[in-house]
Amino acid sequence: MTPVPASLLGPLDLVGAVARLLNGADSKAAIGLVADRLRHGVPAEKVTIWVRQPSGASFVPVISPAPPVAPFPLAGLDALPPREPGGLRVALEHDGTPVGMLDLEGVGDGPGREAVGIVADLLAPHVALIELSEDLAFEVAVRARQIEEQRRFTGLVIDSLPVGLYVVDRDYRIQIWNRKRETGTQGVHRDEVVGRPVFEVLTRQSADQLKGEFDQIFESGQMSQMDIEVEDPNGERFYRISKIPMRLDGDRISHVITIGEDVTEWYRIHRRIMQNEKLAAVGQLAAGVMHEINNPLATIGACAAALEGRLPEVDASAQVAFREYIEIIDKEVERCTNIVDGLLEFSRPKDKEKSPVAINAVIQDTFFLLKHHTRFKKLTVERELTEDLPQVKANAEQLVQVLMALMLNALDAMEAGNGTLTVRSRMGGHRGEEVLVEVQDTGVGIPRAHLTKIFEPFFTSKPQGRGTGLGLSICYGIVEDHLGRLEVESQPGLGATFRVYLPALP
Ligand SMILES: Nc1ncnc2c1ncn2[C@@H]1O[C@H](COP(=O)(O)OP(=O)(O)OP(=O)(O)O)[C@@H](O)[C@H]1O
Ligand SMILES: [Mg+2]
Repeated sequence: MTPVPASLLGPLDLVGAVARLLNGADSKAAIGLVADRLRHGVPAEKVTIWVRQPSGASFVPVISPAPPVAPFPLAGLDALPPREPGGLRVALEHDGTPVGMLDLEGVGDGPGREAVGIVADLLAPHVALIELSEDLAFEVAVRARQIEEQRRFTGLVIDSLPVGLYVVDRDYRIQIWNRKRETGTQGVHRDEVVGRPVFEVLTRQSADQLKGEFDQIFESGQMSQMDIEVEDPNGERFYRISKIPMRLDGDRISHVITIGEDVTEWYRIHRRIMQNEKLAAVGQLAAGVMHEINNPLATIGACAAALEGRLPEVDASAQVAFREYIEIIDKEVERCTNIVDGLLEFSRPKDKEKSPVAINAVIQDTFFLLKHHTRFKKLTVERELTEDLPQVKANAEQLVQVLMALMLNALDAMEAGNGTLTVRSRMGGHRGEEVLVEVQDTGVGIPRAHLTKIFEPFFTSKPQGRGTGLGLSICYGIVEDHLGRLEVESQPGLGATFRVYLPALP
């Protein structure tokens, strides 16, 4: 088709052509075409269409003929250079707002002149629309960035929590898995779990059991909480597991948040408090009863001695039996006296004087006292004493008593002639600020079920008449009184280790 020279067309044809260009065409490109069309159709030497930018802060020129170098935008329409003589300028307004300017230079004398006003009316809404759609795109982008930032922020909060956290949806699929759940021995990276059914990931519990727990939350809408005990290579750990219902919208529960918090330390402290309370109660009771028992015991002992003195007065045939009875009375009185003494010790560990003591000297003293014990001679004894340890503020006699009780227990736990007793001294504790004495044996060990009971007064696994069950509870009281801790670790069958922590003197 041969193009008809524009200048020969009527103004209506020019308007029609512009309308077609603008109709449905891609916004900005269309404005360039309109500028060309006007230049030919009016005709004019140069046509510039100033288009307001979405930000509203500047006006960008679309120029025909296209200049060799990209022109600068204008800060505002007032900044336009004065109109050229022989030029034509029409503001583009939409809903009373200036959205641009139509600027023609070197306008010829064709009929197209009359079309310029109408073309401006057609152009204005188009320019406004570009602005609007670009504004919208801009806003959407800003909003998306805000949402992304918000998401990152929330993610960081969840990842910074010192608790394990994961979220499942109604299909039991994992949706969120926080950083804490990625670390540790059981840790799995989130990329491996998000989107998968929780039963495939958490296999310690049976799928049925786990499903039941989630269903209960989905149905009841109530949060649940329970404590579990987990075997860990470094000893038992306790976790408080909370399941919290979450509603995305409406009343229906859409997700369940599960939080696992390590409460091992809390448990330890709680146990110690319980232990201390129990010991205090027993101590009070014991103190009250002891004097009541001591006197009758002394009387019984004295009577037995008197009877023994008068044995020759009875029949020779009865003498043998009577002597035996008196021996039994003596032995049992002695046993009772020992128990009462033990209780006395236990109820009053507090009034002993303390002074700076070198722990290694205490250990040596204990060994000296035990040296003559026949069973002690048949053992392998290892000493690993760290030199130059800080002193501790203690009553040396009481500390000897503690170590003696621990070592005698160790002896009892090992078969004669077969076992190793190791005594160590070193720095230890939470920040390595405590002096630590370890008494380790290779004996029978302590069953899990007994671990919490052995410090209780009168708990013993030894045959009747052998142990009173007071040894460890006395140790416990003494160590507490020294502001220290007495702890035990044991693998049944392999042995036990008792640790005495005492605060080091500066
Ligand atoms: N080293 C150990 N190895 C295995 N079990 C131990 C050890 N130390 C203590 N126990 C257990 O703890 C219990 C309580 O100890 P504790 O010293 O308080 O009492 P006892 O030794 O039985 O009696 P007592 O010390 O009053 O003669 C023991 O009966 C034993 O079951
Ligand atoms: Mg004992």
